[in-house]
Amino acid sequence: MTGGTDDRPEALLEEARRVHGSAYAPYSNFRVAAALEAEDGRVFSGVNVENASSPVGVCAERVALGTAVSSGARSFSRLALVTSGDRPATPCGMCRQALAEFGTELEVWSEATDGSVGRWILSDLLPEVFRRNDEGSRA
Ligand code: THU
Repeated sequence: MTGGTDDRPEALLEEARRVHGSAYAPYSNFRVAAALEAEDGRVFSGVNVENASSPVGVCAERVALGTAVSSGARSFSRLALVTSGDRPATPCGMCRQALAEFGTELEVWSEATDGSVGRWILSDLLPEVFRRNDEGSRA
């Protein structure tokens, strides 16, 4: 975790709390809600959606990101997560890579069941983001 949590984004966390009950997690019982704030102030939320065929399931962060990108948002300032975990959970590796596509200065906030909150910067969570650098180099 990095920095203090005095400046916690209460409204963004509240939006994640609001949708947390909609998480579809009958297999893991680990419910995750994400609220992603765009630079223009719009907020896009998502929950994890599990599946009987487990790899088909999708994380809350990528549901929120997909909705945001579908609405034209391309840059983001803060992400709030609310999970069923007993400690603040960070985005999984796949979600880190997905979010980093749009910038690595994203503030990540996460709230656990006991109300404890963690804060990270995406660049610390994923210091070496994969980027294609082969554009146009092959026919
Ligand atoms: N999950 C998320 O929604 N976001 C993450 O960053 C990590 C994990 C979900 C996937 C699965 O539905 C459940 O949490 C347990 O792994």
